[in-house]
Amino acid sequence: METRITEIANGIYRLSIFVPDIAPPHGLTFNHFVILGDEPLLFHTGLKRMFPLVRAGVARLLAPEKLRWIAFGHFEADECGAMNEWQTVAPLAQVAHGRTGCLVSLNDMSDRNPRVLEDGETIELGQGRRVRYLDTPHIPHGWDAGVLYEEASGTLLCGDLFTQIGDGAALTEGDIVGPAIATEDIFRFSSLNPGMGRTIRRLAELAPKTLALMHGPSFSGDGAGALKALADDYDGRVRAALG
Ligand SMILES: [Fe+2]
Ligand SMILES: [Fe+2]
Repeated sequence: METRITEIANGIYRLSIFVPDIAPPHGLTFNHFVILGDEPLLFHTGLKRMFPLVRAGVARLLAPEKLRWIAFGHFEADECGAMNEWQTVAPLAQVAHGRTGCLVSLNDMSDRNPRVLEDGETIELGQGRRVRYLDTPHIPHGWDAGVLYEEASGTLLCGDLFTQIGDGAALTEGDIVGPAIATEDIFRFSSLNPGMGRTIRRLAELAPKTLALMHGPSFSGDGAGALKALADDYDGRVRAALG
C-alpha cells in the first residue's frame, strides 16, 4: 500500500490509501485530508495500523510534529484510530470534535482533553483558512457524527457521506451520487432516519465547491446539487422502510 497525495483545493491535500481486499474486486480508498495553515489540521487520523503510512504522507507536506488540530467525522477506527499516535508525535496537537463525541467517547479515549466544538463553531487555521464544524447526528452513521467546512475554498470534508467502492481519480467532476447509491446498496452503512434529508439539505445550503469524500474521489462542481440528490435518495429509502 502507498499514500497518494493530491491537492484538491487551495492548501487542502488528499492523502489516499487504497485497500484492495475490501469489497473485492473493487477495493476501497481511505482518504485523509491535511489543511495547511499556521495551525495545520488533519481530518481523519487513519487506522492505528495505517499510522506509519499516513504519517509518512503527512511528512511530505509538513513536519508531523507541527500538526495542531485533529478532526474527523465520528468515532470509528478509520476516522480516529491513530489519534493518540498523532498526539504523541505532535506535542500541540489536539482533537476537536462536537459535544456528543467528546462526552460519549473522546473525553475518555483521547490521551489529551479534546476541544469541544458547538454546532457552527469555527477554528481559525491562519493563512486565510477557517473551518466550521457542523453536527450531523446519525448521518450517515454515528450519534456523534459531524462534518467540517473549510470556508475559504468552499470545501466540505464530508466523511462517510457519498462513500463509494473502487479506486478512481483523486478529483472528479463526474457523478458521485450514483456510485454512492450503489455502495449504500452493498454496505448498508447509513443509519436510515427521518432527519436524513433535512440534515443533508442543510449542508447543501453551504453550496460547497468541493466535496472531500473519505471513501471515494473528491468532487469538484455543484456540491449543493449532489447533496440534494443524495438527500432525495435517503428520503426515498426512509419512506420505503416505513412502508
Ligand atoms: Fe464511518
Ligand atoms: Fe470512514
